[in-house]
Amino acid sequence: MAVFDLIVLGGGPAGYTGAIRAAQLGLNTAIVDKREVLGGTCLNIGCIPSKALLLSSDHLHFARHQAARHGVLFETVSFDLAQMMNRKQGVVRQLTQGLEFLMKKNKITRLFGVGQVLAPGKVVLTKADGGQEELQGKHVVLATGSVPAELPNVPIDRQTIVTSDEALAFAQVPNELVVVGAGAIGLELSSVWSRLGSKVTIIEFLPRIAAFFDPDVTQALQKALEAEGMKFHLDTTVTSVALCNGRATVEAISKENDKLQFSADKVLIAVGRKPYLDGAVSKDLGLKLTAGGRVAVDERYRTNVPDLYAIGDIIEGPMLAHKGEDEGVACVERIAGRAGHVNYDAIPNVIYTNPEVAGVGLTEDLAKVRGIAVRVGKFPFAANGRALANDESQGFAKILADPKTDKLLGAQIIGFGASELIPEAVTVLEFGGSAEDVGKTVHAHPTMSEALKEAALAVNNQAFSIPPSPRESRSAAAGSKR
Ligand code: NAI
Repeated sequence: MAVFDLIVLGGGPAGYTGAIRAAQLGLNTAIVDKREVLGGTCLNIGCIPSKALLLSSDHLHFARHQAARHGVLFETVSFDLAQMMNRKQGVVRQLTQGLEFLMKKNKITRLFGVGQVLAPGKVVLTKADGGQEELQGKHVVLATGSVPAELPNVPIDRQTIVTSDEALAFAQVPNELVVVGAGAIGLELSSVWSRLGSKVTIIEFLPRIAAFFDPDVTQALQKALEAEGMKFHLDTTVTSVALCNGRATVEAISKENDKLQFSADKVLIAVGRKPYLDGAVSKDLGLKLTAGGRVAVDERYRTNVPDLYAIGDIIEGPMLAHKGEDEGVACVERIAGRAGHVNYDAIPNVIYTNPEVAGVGLTEDLAKVRGIAVRVGKFPFAANGRALANDESQGFAKILADPKTDKLLGAQIIGFGASELIPEAVTVLEFGGSAEDVGKTVHAHPTMSEALKEAALAVNNQAFSIPPSPRESRSAAAGSKR
């Protein structure tokens, strides 16, 4: 029987990062995954392939709608969907092969098959050919991830009614695409297919899209996506989807009780993800779950089963790759007797639409709910030199700080490259810095990052280049006439 210090079940970002850290700390480590390649949802059918398609489709959008403004003229603009998909798969292949290399480099034993914890420290591995092998681990970490959530009365056939798994690989551009759910997945995949020519209708149950950001941010995002051609039905619940001759009919009901019907050649269900644990732990062990159906863990990621830990999408918290990665590191550091820790107040969240949306920490909405006083500074990209030079002047940066201490409590950015601008706010939040710290840090000029600096200065009304409000412009114009 193979014996290890640590067996990780699941080779996604939480699992493979935890395994690498464990190996670095000298633990004899094995990683088990039923996929032939490591990387889990994120690398294979999630974060990475979606980013590849978002960029390809954004290039097309640029060629069609923005290039001429730069004086760049194309005689004709067309695209090759098969090549877009090939490039996407090439990126996935490169990264998953890179992971196999990292496993070898760190001397991690890579096992293919489905793992099941039978007793504390005892795992049975069922291979693709049905053969079984018993493994012994001093510690076992569950990192089995999540799968798309489904809706009642919506039969997902993976052809016409699909999840993100299929919507990342359509062989043809759908003429009419209905997307149920305006979260990160719904909005990113809507962007891809809308840019490639689908008529996209998005149905969202809540009164606004991407509801984990503040209303000023989501309103700006919705406006930008509508300008790209997407149609939104908010405050609307999908009640059923039926298949008929290869097409789908979506029935929905609005808040005012109006019955709505949509016909589409593809329907994407993007209403969240649910933890995936199927068979990973023998029922006899009585693994404790939370009220929300996730695996219950303590601050050291220990479950109620001795020597069994859980990290990533199967435990509470946002289902984000980077949250899982940091939990993987913290969990094995604690196992190795070190001081691992994840700061759940400083986990960034990004939607990779155009404009991108990124946020970290407290929002104004959350501050209201929790009764926390905040001071807000905002700065528009329309007043940022680099954004104008880039022809990317949509959006703004926003900083929330404590009115008494000026401590930075949160930041949101909507605009080009927001995903690459938010880390500054994450770092300052992590270090307990203030809005003034951001405002008094030298930022390279001209960069879009100056908008974050100006937003930080605006917290205390010290921004340099905030443009006049329409009212101020009108009164200035009236004044100059006199
Ligand atoms: P989500 O929970 O972010 O959004 C789902 C949306 O569907 C919600 O707005 C919800 O109100 C709506 N909804 C639920 N039932 C509905 C119904 N019957 N009719 C209409 N609307 C309904 O989930 P999403 O977008 O599927 O993403 C799943 C997870 O994956 C999330 O945790 C997300 O953060 C993560 N993810 C993150 C990405 C990123 O960081 N860029 C990209 C993709 C996914």
